[in-house]
Amino acid sequence: MSQKKRVFSGIQPSGALTLGNYLGAMKQWVALQETHDCVYCVVDLHALTVPSDPDDLKKRIFDTAALLIASGLDPDRVILIIQSHVHEHCELAWLLSCTATYGEMGRMTQFKEKSEGKESVSLGLFTYPVLMAADILLYQTDLVPVGADQKQHVEITRDIADRFNRRYGPVFTLPEPFIPEAGARIMSLDDPTKKMSKSNQNPNSYVTLLDTPAAIRKKILSAVTDSGREVRYDPENKAAVSNLLTIYSRCAGGSIEDIEGMYAGKGYADFKKDLAAVVTDTLRPVQQRFEDICASGEVARVVKDGADKAREIARVTLGAAKERIGLVI
Ligand code: AMP
Ligand code: TRP
Repeated sequence: MSQKKRVFSGIQPSGALTLGNYLGAMKQWVALQETHDCVYCVVDLHALTVPSDPDDLKKRIFDTAALLIASGLDPDRVILIIQSHVHEHCELAWLLSCTATYGEMGRMTQFKEKSEGKESVSLGLFTYPVLMAADILLYQTDLVPVGADQKQHVEITRDIADRFNRRYGPVFTLPEPFIPEAGARIMSLDDPTKKMSKSNQNPNSYVTLLDTPAAIRKKILSAVTDSGREVRYDPENKAAVSNLLTIYSRCAGGSIEDIEGMYAGKGYADFKKDLAAVVTDTLRPVQQRFEDICASGEVARVVKDGADKAREIARVTLGAAKERIGLVI
């Protein structure tokens, strides 16, 4: 048995993922494979909580898996799965939904945001955090790397696991969220009060990992800035420029102070032009590997291997949970 701590995380198959996903999540995933035992999951079942076109979904699932590999995940070191391939996720979700409460689910910020103003909301959107808890708990996860927006879901997972363990006996490891300090939230290019998200109506508000250099340049040059002309990190008074500085620092690797120093006395225009180049250089190798991986047909093999390995772990946890609850197995 490996002594390394277990990491689990999931990402929705939103096709061309954004720079927010990359800096807020995927870069951490790649770094963690060096030190931890990692299981990463394309959460296709979570994507069904909002309507989507079947052909489109199929392509997005594959593209997301390919982009994860292209971003640096090493299929020989991590377990990469597509959620629906490992049936144990759904089965455990049912058991946990009998431990979680209606009140808890109604308090989830993401549910409130996604359901607001909608005439009809799927039941799956409401129970979304229970399926996420099953994802995490099946693998006896210690750490869950996520962006700040998902912290509440990891905390509720911990509560559900703790309640289950107290009621039936110790089955689940209690997971901790693992949130990167800088880049935890990359904000939208057109409104620094909202997180960068592919679901935004305005495509200029986000950079996707598959954007061309011309598109990246156009989006960054048209990003909103703040009053004044100083390139200075000040999230309260200069939210837009601070977001761009965060992106610069997370892509190029230097500290924010050093970058401020480089642009002392220069205006926003110079800074944005260079930022476009920095983002393009960051994404170029990812895009190149993405093309190669798609052409090789490697994704199907990787996710099949991943599911075989994941099932071995998931089966044991599910079996223990069923036995403790009193199901006859
Ligand atoms: P999602 O695309 O919502 O499934 O998110 C996948 C992962 O990316 C989660 O860990 C999110 O917290 C993270 N993420 C998504 N958008 C951003 C963003 N704008 N800034 C930082 N992290 C993000
Ligand atoms: N809800 C997460 C998001 O939108 C995706 C997700 C599903 C997840 N299951 C997970 C993340 C388990 C971490 C662990 O970003």
